[in-house]
Amino acid sequence: MDTKNLLNWIELSPAALDKNLDSLSRLAAGRTIAVAVKSNAYGHGLAPMIDLLDRRPDVEYVSVHSLDEAIQCRKYGWSRRILLLGPAPLTDLEAIPEFDLEPVVFTSQALTRLGKLAAKSDRPIRTHVKLETGTHRQGITAKELEQFAAIYKKYPRLGKPYGVSMHFANIEDTTNHAYAQGQLDVFNTLIKRMAALGIKPTIRHTACSAALILFEKTRFEMVRPGIAVYGHWPSKETYLSYRLGGGVNDIFSPVLSWHTRVTQIKKVPRDSFVGYGCTYRTTAPTRLAVLPVGYADGYDRSLSSLAYVLIKGQRAPVRGRVCMNLMMVDITDIPGVRLEEPVTLIGRQGEESLSAEQVAAWAGTISYEILARLSPDISRLISHV
Ligand SMILES: Cc1ncc(COP(=O)(O)O)c(C=O)c1O
Repeated sequence: MDTKNLLNWIELSPAALDKNLDSLSRLAAGRTIAVAVKSNAYGHGLAPMIDLLDRRPDVEYVSVHSLDEAIQCRKYGWSRRILLLGPAPLTDLEAIPEFDLEPVVFTSQALTRLGKLAAKSDRPIRTHVKLETGTHRQGITAKELEQFAAIYKKYPRLGKPYGVSMHFANIEDTTNHAYAQGQLDVFNTLIKRMAALGIKPTIRHTACSAALILFEKTRFEMVRPGIAVYGHWPSKETYLSYRLGGGVNDIFSPVLSWHTRVTQIKKVPRDSFVGYGCTYRTTAPTRLAVLPVGYADGYDRSLSSLAYVLIKGQRAPVRGRVCMNLMMVDITDIPGVRLEEPVTLIGRQGEESLSAEQVAAWAGTISYEILARLSPDISRLISHV
């Protein structure tokens, strides 16, 4: 991996990915695994992640949000199963049999359209019904199930639903899992209702990372982890619940690190303003390094004068506002910094590290958002360590 000619790049560690997938496979204990690669594989880059996942026989599915993402996966060579989690335009549903996708269905209009397509198609369409259990986002209610059963009956080429799913509303944000348990109870009741209506599905899936890590009873026949595949705990609460349950610490390592280089160094006198809005003023003679990264790359503007980056294994504070494509950091206390010195925005340098969780805490958000918003234009490289 040669990064000499790069000013802004992301490194992906196959070793970290393998460690995370080994841990998740152990937890899944033979169940089917569907890895979430939506939103450019949580910012890691869809194309390199497809290549890396393709090496793993234990990953049978990838799950995506949009039809475009699903088609990209096929373009990048993913020949195994694809679960389409999000909505697709009713006018574009032909792509489902064409690209051999498995849609999660939550409207009668989409199911009817799929029924008509199945009648014309020589390939079966595997549908997964999404149930409403308390998230109030996509699922269908007991009442709507009757309508669904009638549609399955009307279009026999659809067969029965292959899968049935739900998504937890409050499993990672708390150590009190009563609400999640309630959702699971509703899920199990609704599945009995499906059986009574003659549309008993073959597989059940509910488990995002937190559910998979914490609760055996959420795993059913298939699990759908996202964030943990990339080496991140869904939240502090998930980590705490895991440790309180006797879990060992070292089961995940971050796959991604983000780097740039110093592209300019300048000395500014005491009392100088730095950047737009004159929000930061030096209190002493200061050495600043200008970095070619800004909010357009996914380095959030809320990190202005708040976050740190790593240079020569030390923390350098961000000074002034993060601009669209540039930012300034204070290197007064870091001797020997030169032009094109490598800088780490997320990841490790020597003994120091800055996690996506730390950057998220500075930005007032979660690691998911910090990762998912990394610009797709940044080069993604596979590291060999
Ligand atoms: C329906 C569904 N399943 C699974 C996941 C994976 O969740 P996580 O990244 O918390 O593992 C997501 C992510 O938001 C999702 O929306």
